[in-house]
Amino acid sequence: MLRIHTVNELRNTLKTQKNVAFVPTMGNLHDGHIALISLAKQHGQCVVASIFVNPLQFGPNEDLASYPRTLEADCKRLEDAGTDIVFLPSVQEMYPDFDGEHLNQTMTITPPPIATELCGASRPGHFAGVATVVMKLFNLVMPQVAIFGKKDFQQVFVIKELVRQFNLPIQIIAGDTVREASGLAMSSRNGYLTPAQKTEAAQLHQCLTKIVHAVKQGNTHFTNLEQAASQTLTQQGWLVDYISVRAANTLKPATNQDNELVVLSAAKLGSTRLIDNIDFCAK
Ligand code: PAJ
Repeated sequence: MLRIHTVNELRNTLKTQKNVAFVPTMGNLHDGHIALISLAKQHGQCVVASIFVNPLQFGPNEDLASYPRTLEADCKRLEDAGTDIVFLPSVQEMYPDFDGEHLNQTMTITPPPIATELCGASRPGHFAGVATVVMKLFNLVMPQVAIFGKKDFQQVFVIKELVRQFNLPIQIIAGDTVREASGLAMSSRNGYLTPAQKTEAAQLHQCLTKIVHAVKQGNTHFTNLEQAASQTLTQQGWLVDYISVRAANTLKPATNQDNELVVLSAAKLGSTRLIDNIDFCAK
């Protein structure tokens, strides 16, 4: 596996590659990321991954500084999974106007209105940061296919809009969420949890599963279901950000006419913010 740190080297290396499948990440890789690499191998001859903790998508009070950085272990996992190239740019390499502290001069992409709802409501600027870095990475790697995880369902939606609205010749594939045996969605942020919190964390997925079962049995009182789940979690010590049933293809609030649905959630356990979702058919 080739490790590449600069834009020039990446461009030179990929010049002759026609069939690239790309998996962007922020590192601290777990089985969920590796499942995306396996998907990429099925869809392209050359698998490129990137590891870049993107400062532009973190809010001022978020975990940019403490985000886990585990480069050597990550590279080993990527190599074992059959990755051909890993791109490891510095912040300076990605953002030429970065002055060691600020990114103020950086041009950004304005994401679609959905970027202010769900996770965007409590993370202003987050999806602008994601869309901007993904656009830049797409311009550098020029993949035919890019793979993202459904774990970040709203992110996949924003990326698909990016591709649609800017006419990018890239197919977006969404990989299923990989979970712990308890149901807890794998996440780099799970590492912040104490053992007791990790046990409790599985409740988020359980609450979502309960909503899915209720809807499948014909209950379309979505607001009631959302409130009940939220109350259960709050009583168990969570700080719930949102639990919301939406139409899977538009992310508009679900109506009883919709069949393809997704229930999305974000909640804090202690200081750790976890997200999860399940997409499903009502009938
Ligand atoms: P990161 O959180 O590292 O995730 C990289 C990719 O792995 C994303 O597409 C994410 O949805 C996927 N992923 C995370 N946990 C997963 C799980 N349990 N099962 C399956 N896939 C999972 O998402 C980002 O980085 C960044 O926002 C990025 C797109 C790289 C832009 O900076």
